[in-house]
Amino acid sequence: MIGRLNHVAIAVPDLQAATGVYRDTLGAAVSAPQDLPEHGVTVVFVDLPNTKIELLHPFGAESPIAGFLDKNPSGGIHHVCYEVDDILAARDRLKDQGARVLGDGEPKTGAHGKPVLFLHPKDFAGTLVELEQV
Ligand code: CO
Repeated sequence: MIGRLNHVAIAVPDLQAATGVYRDTLGAAVSAPQDLPEHGVTVVFVDLPNTKIELLHPFGAESPIAGFLDKNPSGGIHHVCYEVDDILAARDRLKDQGARVLGDGEPKTGAHGKPVLFLHPKDFAGTLVELEQV
C-alpha cells in the first residue's frame, strides 16, 4: 500500500545550525527557511536525490513539535512520511486493522499542499508515520 519515502522530518532546536550541518558539512542542497504558521513550524527542505529531509523548528506558542523538543533537547527524528495513492482508502484499511489515526481522522493539507494523515507511533514500531497522497 505505501509507496515511496517522501521525507524524513527532523526536529531541531537551532534551525540555522542544523541547516549549516546539512549544507556545509554534508554538502546537501537546502532551501531557505519557510514559516508554516498553520502547522506551527518553520521548515528547511533538504533535497536529496531519492528523498527529502525536513528540518522542523517550532513556530509560535502552539507548535506541535515543542513537546518533542522538550523531551529531545538535541533534536531527533520526528516522523517519516510515506506516499499513498488514495489517502482515504489507506486510512480505512488501516483503521480496519486496528491502527490509530491521529486527530479527527480526516486528512489535512500538509506542508506540500497535499492531503496528509498521521498515524499513532505505538502502532508503527515506535515511529510517528505521516501518509501523504501524491
Ligand atoms: Co512531514
